[in-house]
Order: sequence, then C-alpha cells, then structure tokens
Amino acid sequence: MHNAGQSYLKSGKYVCCTIDKQPQVTILHKKSGLNSVFLWGLFQDNNVRKHGGYLIMSWNRDYEKSGRIWGENPGVLAEAAVGYLKKNRPGTERFDLLDIGCGYGRDAFYLSDNLKFSVLGVDVAEKSIAIAMDTVMKTKRRNISFQSIDFASLGGDKYDIVFASNVYQILHKYEREAFRNTVQKALRPEGLLFLATLSINDPEHYGKGERIAGEENSFKEEKYLHFCTREELTKDFGFLSIKELYEQKYAEPRSNGQIHHHVSWILIGTIGAMLKN
Ligand SMILES: C[S@@+](CC[C@H](N)C(=O)[O-])C[C@H]1O[C@@H](n2cnc3c(N)ncnc32)[C@H](O)[C@@H]1O
Repeated sequence: MHNAGQSYLKSGKYVCCTIDKQPQVTILHKKSGLNSVFLWGLFQDNNVRKHGGYLIMSWNRDYEKSGRIWGENPGVLAEAAVGYLKKNRPGTERFDLLDIGCGYGRDAFYLSDNLKFSVLGVDVAEKSIAIAMDTVMKTKRRNISFQSIDFASLGGDKYDIVFASNVYQILHKYEREAFRNTVQKALRPEGLLFLATLSINDPEHYGKGERIAGEENSFKEEKYLHFCTREELTKDFGFLSIKELYEQKYAEPRSNGQIHHHVSWILIGTIGAMLKN
C-alpha cells in the first residue's frame, strides 16, 4: 500500500489509500460529488478476518472442489517437526500442540500419531474442518480436535507448540502481524514455534501475477501470496530465539495430478529453553 496522500487502485468508484498507515477505502459519489471515507480496518476486522469474506469463500470453494488438495501425506514442516522433537524433547513428556490454518488435518494427524501430543487444529474454512472431522470419526482418533475459527479469535489457551504450515504466506501484512501476536500469546513459556512459509526463491509462484503496490515480495495470482527473506523472518520473529532457519526445496503433489515445486523457509524458534540444545 502507498503512504498517505498517494492513491492507488483507482477503479470505477473506489479509491484505496492509507492515512496514518491505516488502509482506507474512499467511495466516490459521482453524481453528488461527495466522497465518503470508511475505515477499511473496520471492514477488515468485522467482515474479512472474523466473518469470512472473500478469503474464506475462496478456500471453502477449493476444499469443496478438490477435497484433500495436497494429498494424504504430511508436509515437509510436519516431518521436520517430528524429527526435531524426537531428537530434542525431554523424556516422554506430553505437550499441547496448536496447528494454525490446519486445512483438512494432514499434518495434525501425522503429528498426533507420531508424537502422541494433544493436538488442536484450527482453520477458518469450515469445509476443511468438515473433512478433518470426518477423518476423526472414521479413524476413531483420540487426542485430536478441530475447530473452524480465525486464529485471531483464539481464546487465552496456552500451548507448548504452535505449528503453522503454508499459512503465513497467504496472510496480508496486518494479518501477519496479528499472527505473530497470536503466537506470542499462545505459547507457554519455553514453547516452540514451527513455521513453514514460501521463500523469495520459490520457483512456482514468486513474481507471478499482479505485484501488490507498496509491499515488497507480495503478488496476487489466483490468491494473495507473500514471499519471505531470511532478514524479514529474523526481524519479525525476533521475539523468539531461533533454533533453525533454512530453505527447503520440495515437490508437492496435487489431487489433480499436477506436481508443484516449491522453496519454503522452515523456522523453528523457542521462547525459552524447553529443549536440551
Ligand atoms: C495453504 S493452506 C495450508 C493448509 C495446511 N496447513 C496444509 O499444509 O495442509 C492455508 C490454510 O490457512 C487457512 N487460513 C487462512 N487464514 C486463516 C486464519 N485467519 N485463521 C485460520 N486459518 C486460516 C485457510 O483456510 C487454508 O486452509
């Protein structure tokens, strides 16, 4: 987005700009010549983040059409998390794990099966949660639950581990900040974050579609996507002690038979010293 005074996205009767860094939408009344300015932040809070809007509709549509979009196997972050925790967690202690933007639960099930933790998966798209709940019922799994909820509306419950795979990259700038606040609030002292998010070196999507004005490394192809640099992640997650931060190349099979090739950052960070190293 542009700074105050700079207008952008002037299309038809809408002009969007920022005032004091707050996004605004001005609706131009052509006949009366009057302009009315609405706080876009209010719209975002009430309609987009909490009650859905385009993003939720779009994800629901994807899950309705393709079901288990990325197949049954876990993603690279879940495999990294299991490897890391098996090596580093002390003894046989049980932990509570929160999977933010869990989709239909492919990672949540893998984490629960391999680590015997208590797992809660949350996702705004109720269609994805319906698929996850169906799996819970069919496989009679315990210690795993799902909720259709925006992470920004999570209550005050605390977790030993927050896990978020391929979610940060689809969040707009203000949502990424809300995400970091949620992580900070949700982690118990000495808790751990496992995060996977697309890198600027991603060959599949980086630089494709419309560049988002005023935002570095953000594009709108079919959906909004933000690509991170090492410097950005180190700065934005500076409230954690970062244990590992590396780029991971992987091939991701799709339910439609296509294979996507990605490069994601894997970030593992702690708010303390729960682990041995
Ligand atoms: C790319 S998918 C990844 C799904 C899952 N983590 C996986 O890798 O299989 C991103 C998910 O984040 C969810 N999501 C987006 N914004 C969210 C929010 N504010 N709160 C909770 N979930 C959200 C979407 O509905 C979608 O299911």
